[in-house]
Amino acid sequence: MKLWGGRFNKGTAKILEEFNGSINFDKRMYEEDIKGSIAHSKMLSRQNIIGEEEQKKIEDGLLQILKEIEAGEFTFDIKDEDIHMAVEKRLIEIVGEVGGKLHTARSRNDQVALDIRMYLKKETITIKGILIELLDSLIEVAEKNKEVIMPGYTHLQRAQPILFSHHILAYYEMFKRDLDRLEDSYKRLDVMPLGAGALAGTTYDIDRHFVAKELQFSEVTKNSLDTVSDRDFIIELNFIISMISMHMSRLSEEIILWSTSEFSFVNLDDSYSTGSSIMPQKKNPDIAELIRGKTGRIYGNLMGILTVMKGLPLAYNKDTQEDKEGVFDSIDTIKISLVIFKEMLITMKINEKNMMKGIEDGFINATDVADYLAKKKLPFREAHRIVGELVVYCEINNKKISQLKLEEFKQFNDLFEGDINEKISIKECVNGRKSYGGTGLESVETQIEDANIFLKNKK
Ligand code: ARG
Repeated sequence: MKLWGGRFNKGTAKILEEFNGSINFDKRMYEEDIKGSIAHSKMLSRQNIIGEEEQKKIEDGLLQILKEIEAGEFTFDIKDEDIHMAVEKRLIEIVGEVGGKLHTARSRNDQVALDIRMYLKKETITIKGILIELLDSLIEVAEKNKEVIMPGYTHLQRAQPILFSHHILAYYEMFKRDLDRLEDSYKRLDVMPLGAGALAGTTYDIDRHFVAKELQFSEVTKNSLDTVSDRDFIIELNFIISMISMHMSRLSEEIILWSTSEFSFVNLDDSYSTGSSIMPQKKNPDIAELIRGKTGRIYGNLMGILTVMKGLPLAYNKDTQEDKEGVFDSIDTIKISLVIFKEMLITMKINEKNMMKGIEDGFINATDVADYLAKKKLPFREAHRIVGELVVYCEINNKKISQLKLEEFKQFNDLFEGDINEKISIKECVNGRKSYGGTGLESVETQIEDANIFLKNKK
């Protein structure tokens, strides 16, 4: 018979069991479920709701179940519906009738809210750790290639020369914000829901703050109706994971482009790329493509839970059982993606020469020619027009700006002097951009320094 079978005259249909049950996926919260139950039993005993002896038996039974599960000796049965009832049923088998006292002053509605919060707290800490390792690796890549120059793009058209390290540090900033988001959202996870009961609280003299302390929660939820129906924290984690994935996907897209023979800016390590079964010459950036692709599924999980929640009346509704698979999938996906992405990055070879070639071919220092004139007090707008004409001249005559003679420059404006070529050399264009946050070497060195201080404090 079901634990809730009292008012039923018939067993449930087999197909309903499969449809209704969540044990196949919520069993991963077994440890949280058991630890939560132990804390609850301790509180019941302290408040004289159950006896000390009874609590001891319950706790021992629960610890035995934990061992059984970890040894792979526990049978998860869809007939038990979910992890909460599976553990409770086994407890009664082990300790007898007294096991039936565990669920006093508690409902599965507040119990599931507790388990998922505990589980997501644990996973948030794990993801944070992996993210910090990625931040570390980005700094390593930036430092190793600190002075490598590449074309910077806008509209995917060559725009201005930049340091490759500056480009990588842009991603450092993105992932650092993600870390910040994880830390911030942790505060909202860290609120203890048990004691809300089914929806309205309980008539027993419980001590919720004691349970919170036992389970290392910083606060206790304030409204029982909100407590059993709130899934904001799951949406939030889904969103943060989506953001991390989007950031990885953007860099993945660049790496896919950079590793084409058209760009040839980078070479992926053999151990982090794959071949084609038909075209022997190919080396494919599968990791980067998969990360880009998995982003779709991760967004899907976010949309899924947002949609589940949109029309739910207070308080608990079974709809929210649909909150778990998506976030579990996103957690699993982001963890492996972050690790493999990091490995791919640190083993990737940078083709400095090809990056430079990309610079020499375009008119990538045109802005600097205009700045040269503007610094001699010509209004920038006028300088911009003049350099536009100069670019057309170069195109017609098939010349690069660096190949122009001083007389040719002077045809466009008298302010050009002998130092023009030196002032618009690529190195000068890059390192002259010393403005705070700019691409110049000095600025990049400051960025790396700040990052190293930040990361040291995180470890
Ligand atoms: N398996 C359920 C869930 O994940 C647990 C809560 C069920 N509560 C209930 N009253 N049916 O949401």
